[in-house]
Amino acid sequence: MIKGKHLIEPTDLTLEELDLLFDLALAIESNPKDYLSELNGYLLASLFYEPSTRTRFSFEAAMLRLGGQVIGFSEPNSSSVSKGESVADTIRTVACYADIAVMRHPKEGAPKLASKHSPIPIINAGDGGHQHPTQTLTDLLTIRSLKGSIHKNVVGFCGDLKFGRTVHSLVKAMARYDDMTFVFVSPPELAMPAHIKDSLGSHKIIEVNNLEDVIDQIDILYMTRIQRERFFNEEEYLRLKSYFVLTKDKLSTAKNDMIVMHPLPRVDEIHPNVDEDPRAVYFQQAQYGMYVRMALILKLLKGDAHA
Ligand code: NCD
Repeated sequence: MIKGKHLIEPTDLTLEELDLLFDLALAIESNPKDYLSELNGYLLASLFYEPSTRTRFSFEAAMLRLGGQVIGFSEPNSSSVSKGESVADTIRTVACYADIAVMRHPKEGAPKLASKHSPIPIINAGDGGHQHPTQTLTDLLTIRSLKGSIHKNVVGFCGDLKFGRTVHSLVKAMARYDDMTFVFVSPPELAMPAHIKDSLGSHKIIEVNNLEDVIDQIDILYMTRIQRERFFNEEEYLRLKSYFVLTKDKLSTAKNDMIVMHPLPRVDEIHPNVDEDPRAVYFQQAQYGMYVRMALILKLLKGDAHA
């Protein structure tokens, strides 16, 4: 039963729960007006200890579009965190006022720690370079909707595979589907961590340094930003920042039904001339993100007792 659960890791929900969630997200997308007052009287606390545009806005928009309300901070210096309050104490206090909380934190494991002290559901909105489960829900819904199925795809991950939490989360979640092929494309310095590759069991893994060598085999291309804020040294970032830039020309050998995804924000890794290509779905992906978050909040607060 999903009601009252925390979402800390992408695998905290079963495949069946995910399917029901995605069905609800699509039902909301088709008839958003039917859900406008589902969460009247409910309050979401939005606790962002690290910058965010899409994730924070999509959660807040999701809650407001369900008729609920939002309190919170988008930068910890404006809260008691700046006085040295612990995550555990902050969440115990917030739980006195709100029904559900969303937390983004630069430290890996902070939302999990919060969940141990919390009587209300906690949703991890990204913890350091670790996990980003609601981006994963967004990505899986996008793939299920646009490719028909998540199973049996060749998925290319390109960019910063070392620090990128969106790829860590998505790979972990995709390992539960059948016959996947994971193609990891990165400079050697930003390769996928060994512990994630080791968790992929019998799925096929291909690792290369150059996207052109493999792009013709890929069904889903997941581009990522080089994670500047997680580098120890700026020179290293500047050296790697434009390592791979996807352009219209480079797409010429890709399959006609490949989709190009990106969690956004993009920096240099996708040239704007790719945006007009019908295979570029990253803004559509951002929109799925709001619907899946609406479905998630609704399920965590009300279980199956919704419209
Ligand atoms: C990602 C994140 O914060 O990890 N953005 C997002 O949530 N849509 C990706 C990134 O910052 O590169």
